Order: sequence, then C-alpha cells, then structure tokens
Amino acid sequence: MNSRVSEKFSGLLDSANVRYRKLEWTARDAVAQLNWSRRRMAATCVAIVLALGSIVFLTVSYVLFSDLVHPLPYAMDKTTPAPAIKRLASRAQNETLGFGGIAYLSMPYRSDRQDAMELLGSVYGINFTYIPGVDGAAIADKAKPLHSYWLRPPELGCWRAHVDAWRYLLESDFETLLVLEDDVDFDANIHDIFELLSTQMQHNRIRTTPPTEHEKKAAPYGLDWDVLYVGQCSDRSNEDRLDLVHIYEDPNVPSRHDTFDHFVGQLQSLGIHGRNLGKMRAIAPAWSPVCTMGYAITRKGAERLILDLSYRGITAAIDIDIIRKLQQGIIRGYSITPPLFSAWRVDGAKDSDNQGLEKDQSELGSGNRRGYSHSMKTSARKEMVKILDLHNWDDVGHVFPERPNPTMTAEQEAEEEEEVRKAEIEKKEIEEAWTKRKLEMAKTMEQWGG
Ligand SMILES: *[C@@H]1O[C@H](CO)[C@@H](O)[C@H](O)[C@H]1NC(C)=O
Ligand SMILES: *[C@@H]1O[C@H](CO)[C@@H](O)[C@H](O)[C@H]1NC(C)=O
Repeated sequence: MNSRVSEKFSGLLDSANVRYRKLEWTARDAVAQLNWSRRRMAATCVAIVLALGSIVFLTVSYVLFSDLVHPLPYAMDKTTPAPAIKRLASRAQNETLGFGGIAYLSMPYRSDRQDAMELLGSVYGINFTYIPGVDGAAIADKAKPLHSYWLRPPELGCWRAHVDAWRYLLESDFETLLVLEDDVDFDANIHDIFELLSTQMQHNRIRTTPPTEHEKKAAPYGLDWDVLYVGQCSDRSNEDRLDLVHIYEDPNVPSRHDTFDHFVGQLQSLGIHGRNLGKMRAIAPAWSPVCTMGYAITRKGAERLILDLSYRGITAAIDIDIIRKLQQGIIRGYSITPPLFSAWRVDGAKDSDNQGLEKDQSELGSGNRRGYSHSMKTSARKEMVKILDLHNWDDVGHVFPERPNPTMTAEQEAEEEEEVRKAEIEKKEIEEAWTKRKLEMAKTMEQWGG
C-alpha cells in the first residue's frame, strides 16, 4: 500500500517536472523571440530615421542651392555704360528727376496732403507742380465723354484730373511728364534710383528701334514709350513676350522681406528668383498695371491717351481703360518692378479720396505719425523726419563754451571778471605755499630719518 502510494506520488512528481521543463522551454523560446524582434525593431527604427534624415537633407540642400540653379533669363550687361550715357543719366539728379516736369494731382480740399508733397519736394530737391483734382459730380453732362455712364462720380473725377495732367504736358514745352497722386512715398535715394534707371533705359532690350540722335542727346529715359509705370499697385507679365524683359541690379531695391508679396510673385514670373530677389529690378512691357499712382508719359503718349480716353470716349475707369489700350497695342508702355513709388498709408481706415470728404485725420488714428508704405528700402517720408530732426539746446551746449550771463551790465561783468582773476591769483598762491611746505616737510623727514 505504502509503496504504491509512493510510486504514484513519484509518477506525479515526474510528470510535474516534465511539465515544468516544457514551460521553461516555452518561456525561453518566447524570450529569445522577443529579443530577436527587438533587434528587428531597432533596425527598422534606424532605417526610418536614416530615410527621414536624408529626405530633410535633400530638401534643405534643394532650398539652399536652388537659388544658384536659377539663372537669370539673360546675362546682364556688366560693361560700364559709355560716358555719354552716364552724362545724360546724371540729369536724373535735377529737380524734375530728368523728366520735363513732375505734376501731382490732389483734391483742392486736401491741403494736408499738399503740405506733405511740398515738404517732400523741398527736402529732396524735387519740383512738384500741383494740379487740382476734380469733383466728378461737378462735370457738366455735355463735357462727359462717350460711354462715361459706366463711371461713378469719383472715377469720373479721377479720369478728369488725369486728362488735365496730360493737357498740362501738351500745353508745356516738356517732352515728358511724371504724374503722381498726392499720397505717394518713394525712396530717399530717389535721384540715384532714377539715374540708374536712365542708364538702363538708354540701352534696354525692349526698344524696337535704336535711339535717335535727339534721344541720345536729350531724353534720359528715351522717348520710345507712351507710358512708363513707376508706381503701379500691381501688374502681370505678358507671357508671350518674356524675351523683352530687361533686368538690372539696383543697390536701392527693397529686400525680399520688405517687398510686397505681389511684386515678389511678379518678379518671379519675370524670371527673378531666390537670392536675386531683393537685388534686381525689372523693366518689362506694361501688361496689366493697376492704379495711376505714379507714371510718366511722353508727349506722344499724352496725345494718344487724350485721343483714346477722351476724344473717342471711354470704356472703364481710367487705369482699366489704359490696360485695355496696352493689351490692344494701341499704346506702348513699360513697367518697373518693384515700382519706385508706393502709397503712403496712414493707420486706421483707408484714407482714400474716392469716397469723398467723410473722415478727418483724428478719425484715421495717428495720421502721418504712424504712416507706412511697402516695398521701399528707405522711405523718404520716414527719413525726412530724421533729416529735419534738431536738438537745438543740446547742440548749443556742445558748440559754445559757457558764456557770461546776458542780464548783467558791462560794469557788473567787469567786476565779476576781476573777482575771478583775484580768485585765481589767490588759488595760485595757496598752491605755491603748499608746495613749499611739502618740500620743507620732506627735508625735515630726511634729517630725522638719516
Ligand atoms: C531736368 O532734365 C531734363 C532732361 O534733360 C530736362 O528736360 C528738364 O528741363 C530738367 N529740369 C530742370 C528743372 O532743369
Ligand atoms: C517748378 O516747376 C514749375 C513748372 O515748370 C516752374 O514754373 C517753377 O518755376 C519751378 N520751381 C522751381 C523752384 O524751380
């Protein structure tokens, strides 16, 4: 009985042992498998990290080096312009920037803006001639051009003021006129910017004919155009004639960061990319220039515009109408991008005169004090404040030594001078006595010490 029990017991023990071993093996297997898959996972992770790393590396190097990959659409002419070209270009330093005249349009009631324009003109050596803006509602029905029912009164007034500017050119003996609106800002180095533009215009790629002898002598910007856009709000390229784009380096171009996004896009569509942005300007055929904030016209241009935008009627607001004529090829125009004039905005609401008289400066926030313009490297309006900055009382202190009090009589002054003289003699005497005393003391010390 006892042995049977013990037999049975040892049998049970054996089978338990076997089971335990089996369990142990299974566990070991599982651990081994786990180790193996851990290694695989680590390898996979490393592979993923490497793959991601190389994607990042490739992207970064593409971004960094793509600038170098974009060539300009044509090799720039790096030769220094001939002396005759430079001499003619230097006329841009004169009071009308090398144009025959400069007119600015301003509603008669905007004396605040006229103040600003005259101030800018005086500070930067530019002669701006005021041409009064026109209230569209005051134009007699009989004087309105064909199809002008399209236009709202402010648009009609705007049209009239520009036609008046074109007429001002015809009535003058100018060959060219720069027309500006009264809220423009420009770069403080405007004369240099126009001088450089002139050297480029004198041998640009857009001209269909070589400059005439007269142009070579007297026309800093040539006369082969009707309108030259230097202050458009936007433009698009004529995709079919990108071969006519002329690109040049200008040290006064705003950085890419300071350039209005639209113009960055426009420059890219003209073939300027990467690091060339913020360095180059482009002269291109004007194709869709919006705004009439700043443009030059030639005499021929003024004639064509008055013919097509007055004599024969109009078809839309003036800038849209000019765009149609440009695209139809009835007039020839160039655009400079980034443009050389930009709108000066006072903060708050848009300070536009197209809506009439409703707002004054205080309602517009802090007016010119916090005004701004985009796409300018050195805003002339901001720089002007620095140029006129004066610290009179500090300067007086620096320049002059202390002066006698002007409220004293000559006698009192003489008395005071005498006192000062006496005090100085006294001071000298005391100093001499003291030196003497020190010497004596030194001698006594020597004797004692020795
Ligand atoms: C500036 O130069 C242009 C181009 O030579 C000239 O037509 C214009 O009269 C000059 N302006 C002044 C104020 O001398
Ligand atoms: C500015 O130009 C106008 C128009 O040509 C002229 O009448 C005026 O004398 C000029 N002013 C100065 C200061 O040169």
